[in-house]
Amino acid sequence: MNNILTIDGPSGVGKGTIARVMAQKLGWDLLDSGAIYRAFALAVDAKGVDIDDEKALEKIAHTLDLAFKTEVGSELVSVFLEGKDISKTLRTEQTGEMASKIAAIGVVRSALLKRQQDFAQASGLVADGRDMGTVVFAEAAFKVFLTASAQERAERRLKQLQAQDTVGIMSQILADVVARDERDSSRKNSPLKPAEDALIIDTTELSIDEVVAQVSALVTKSQSLSG
Ligand code: DC
Repeated sequence: MNNILTIDGPSGVGKGTIARVMAQKLGWDLLDSGAIYRAFALAVDAKGVDIDDEKALEKIAHTLDLAFKTEVGSELVSVFLEGKDISKTLRTEQTGEMASKIAAIGVVRSALLKRQQDFAQASGLVADGRDMGTVVFAEAAFKVFLTASAQERAERRLKQLQAQDTVGIMSQILADVVARDERDSSRKNSPLKPAEDALIIDTTELSIDEVVAQVSALVTKSQSLSG
């Protein structure tokens, strides 16, 4: 898997931005695995399924009708669930919270595993999430784990919300970020943690360009070593 780059890390660390820039730079495809968990949570919610009903959860995971579409000339990805554009609802804090809860369930993770692995392309893939480097693409050649202080991540999230004209309360966002990290890191199934062979980058004091430079150096260095 010498053309897979995994980018894992806690919520609000900027994985999505770095993954998008890297995919553009390398000309590789992009997998936002969080979007799959978020869409799955929305589907379960819409169907009114009890999250203790593992059989029903498995069935939804296997039949999830999900499509990602990128507008030509735009970097925005729209997400469609059963043909309906769910892009806006997908990104809310509430959906993130639901996704984090449902993502802790073992049968959900195994049912969604192959769907994520199918994104691997001969032409290359950048995959971002929580367990891309440890589980889904454990054989990937390039692995990055991004971190940043909870305060910094909450501030980034607040700016993101403000850019979308959404009101956010800093203390609430910070509490949500901390609670979500705690749940994602302490779960039994594929917890959030760096792969042993991941490059760990603390982005608290770094700009997007500085992080991209470090990730690019990782890919270029090993390509020149093997080439
Ligand atoms: O990256 P995100 O905020 O869109 O992810 C939403 C939730 O989905 C996250 O809190 C935990 C879960 N998730 C996961 O368990 N494994 C992944 N690979 C991606 C996301």
